[in-house]
Amino acid sequence: MDKIPQVLKMMIEYNAPDLRRINHALKVYGFAKYIAEGENLNEFEKQIIEASAILHDIGIHEAEKRFNSSAGIYQEKLGPQVALPILEKAGFNKEEIEKITYIIAHHHTYNIKDNKLLRIIIEADLIVNIDEGEFGVKADFSSIKNQNFTTETGKSLFDKLILGK
Ligand SMILES: [Fe+2]
Repeated sequence: MDKIPQVLKMMIEYNAPDLRRINHALKVYGFAKYIAEGENLNEFEKQIIEASAILHDIGIHEAEKRFNSSAGIYQEKLGPQVALPILEKAGFNKEEIEKITYIIAHHHTYNIKDNKLLRIIIEADLIVNIDEGEFGVKADFSSIKNQNFTTETGKSLFDKLILGK
């Protein structure tokens, strides 16, 4: 059974009524799915990508509650424990949960280059964060791309959407 609809439902219920955060997660989910498709991932990897994208920022509310901050470092720390019961309820096994919570715990750790699934989440999140104004309008978008984008699909998406080429 497809576990993703369950994860989506629980993410929305957990975040309600914070529509802004729900929208962010849905956008990252859409772009991560697009990149995963372009990179020919197998079904196992696609499930990991989809669940990670939906839950990547799930630690934000706890971070705000406990540390009064939504900074990446706190969400990375708190996200996995919020995600765990959701993933268990949706029926993911131990191996899958390890991979997903690893991605949640490192999605702002831009220097880990050898984990393709993590890179895809980072790429989708960056595109959405740029669109949401996180980097302002005058940032050096070419160097954001060069430093952080490793997949061919992510790079060409960035060219089309952000660099306009
Ligand atoms: Fe995000």
